[in-house]
Amino acid sequence: MCFRNIVSAVILILGLSACASTLYLPTEQDAVVQNVSLNTLIRGRELYISTCGGCHNLYLPAKYTNQEWILIMGKMQEKTKIDDSQKELITRYLITSAK
Ligand code: HEC
Repeated sequence: MCFRNIVSAVILILGLSACASTLYLPTEQDAVVQNVSLNTLIRGRELYISTCGGCHNLYLPAKYTNQEWILIMGKMQEKTKIDDSQKELITRYLITSAK
């Protein structure tokens, strides 16, 4: 029984750490399409990981469309302490690989 708990804890931890590392990584091409620097998209991704995973698992960007992400970010900004420029960075990242 105890062994089983340890095994599920390990599986849970592996699962959680896999989330952030499999999250879409923006490319130079995305930066050209979005007309921003690649660094801007990467900072958006980091901010997404550090501010949006506290209350629920990180949702994959491809789960929602651009329009949906913009609406969601409006709602979620109220739940976080991010300012408008941070919201902009996260939104940029999310719509890079949106549905
Ligand atoms: C303080 C807790 C909290 C933080 C931080 C938070 N969320 Fe949420 N999120 C929620 C709750 C609660 C829901 C459930 C639906 C609701 O209340 O609107 C939710 C739902 C969602 C959903 C599901 C779609 C929906 O509208 O229900 C998405 C996507 C989402 N959050 C993205 C984000 C993003 C992106 C961030 C970072 C900017 C973020 N969340 C930060 C609490 C949080």
